[in-house]
Amino acid sequence: MIGVFDSGLGGLSVLAALVEALPQADVIYYADTAHVPYGSKSEAHIQRRVLAIGEHLAGQGCGLLVVACNTATAAAVQALRAAHPGIPVVGVEPGIKPAAQETRSGRIAVLTTEATAGSRRLKNLIRDHAGGVEVFVEPCPGWATHVEMLQLDDPALATDVRARIDPLLERGVDRIVLGCTHYSFLAPLLGRVIGTRAQLVDVAEAVARQTRRLAADRAHGSGRLLLQASAHPERLHAALPRLRLGHIAARVA
Ligand code: DGL
Repeated sequence: MIGVFDSGLGGLSVLAALVEALPQADVIYYADTAHVPYGSKSEAHIQRRVLAIGEHLAGQGCGLLVVACNTATAAAVQALRAAHPGIPVVGVEPGIKPAAQETRSGRIAVLTTEATAGSRRLKNLIRDHAGGVEVFVEPCPGWATHVEMLQLDDPALATDVRARIDPLLERGVDRIVLGCTHYSFLAPLLGRVIGTRAQLVDVAEAVARQTRRLAADRAHGSGRLLLQASAHPERLHAALPRLRLGHIAARVA
């Protein structure tokens, strides 16, 4: 059994890639909807939540954990690994490395929550993988909440997206990293704003491949997918078709 979690719906973008890569795996997806968004919370708060969810998922028999959230990974992946030394933990980090390798202009941007933007882990990632490349870190407060409310085409959001993206494009950015799993669901809106001027970088498939490498026999189940949440688990199921994930066969447990 594999446990995948996020503050809310964002990690479903990682789950979709995971289900594709590991169709036989039994998976629990846990959304911490009573505490979403994480992006405006303190590191200590996020760590407490991540450790509690780790306990819960390990208690349900998960032998591998996927932190399908950049914010939770930045704040708490080390603490989670320390708490469960026998369980492999896959984290999600913004795709700074592929973006820095692919850029032609030498300028990339990363869209993140406020917490990730201020994290030591992101600074280290940029230092280690983006040498010689100019990196613009753009915190995007409120975007994850729009995704939670399934307001993907909200005019106020579209205005804010334009206000944040246009200046980046004017500076010559040609790769824009989705540094929050919720933002994968904003890719169509972002794509309309960006046009052909830059490319989006999403790591969901890379995370699924890494999970497959570590999964071994934990991936041999009957393809059962359970959705759980700290508040309103039924909303998760209802959100699937709205997020173009209607093909994922899951049940609420
Ligand atoms: N989905 C999360 C991430 O990847 C965070 C969204 C939030 O709860 O603020 O960063």
